Amino acid sequence: MPTPDETSLLAAKALRQLLQIEPTLELFDDKPRAKRAKSLDELYEMIHTCTKCPLGHSRTKFVFGVGNPNADIMFVGEAPGRDEDLSGIPFVGRAGQLLDKMLSAIDLKREEIYIANILKCRPPENRDPLPEESDSCLPHLAEQIRLIAPKLICSLGRIAAQILLDTKTPLGKMRGRFYDVAGAKMLVTFHPAALLRNPNFKRDAWEDLKLLRRTYDQALGQPSKSYERTVK
Ligand code: URA
Repeated sequence: MPTPDETSLLAAKALRQLLQIEPTLELFDDKPRAKRAKSLDELYEMIHTCTKCPLGHSRTKFVFGVGNPNADIMFVGEAPGRDEDLSGIPFVGRAGQLLDKMLSAIDLKREEIYIANILKCRPPENRDPLPEESDSCLPHLAEQIRLIAPKLICSLGRIAAQILLDTKTPLGKMRGRFYDVAGAKMLVTFHPAALLRNPNFKRDAWEDLKLLRRTYDQALGQPSKSYERTVK
């Protein structure tokens, strides 16, 4: 199994490859695209009818992503759940409400950041993404990262981190530190749904959030304030 440092290199390589896929990026089986999107809106138009995997047939809505197209920080979750599938917006259910509290605890607003998922369509019964699903969906996320070019990425939960870092390393060994991914520094932390199931993780999650905020301030060249824990 690769060490976390090797993992970081592997991830950087895998995502760099995805980001550099040249104009022949085939987003649809039958419709090779000759051009790459120049904006998130254009990318949405190109991919929102995607049926590259069977989830494209079972979804209610394609959950593209939301937020600031010029965000310096991007959050990446696993896949839409029931509420997201119905609304087309990531993280609007219970986990999303906790995510909002986590963001507000470090003075981040949804309008400032960008939020997307590894999968754009809901897996049935919220099961884990299958490798073929994440393989076909990852180029969509890679394109979002290329267009947004965030300085920081925060991956939420084991599954997102394992897919982005191309590893089977458990979350406990990955969280709380940064990896070089697609030109950004990526912090791995808990998924809010895991925090709802296991509130004991909140202490470590809070340390991760403070580290994220400090690193964000540094990246923007602004002073950091000290934060008190407000998420119970
Ligand atoms: N869980 C996720 O990983 N993403 C969502 O959008 C909602 C719940």
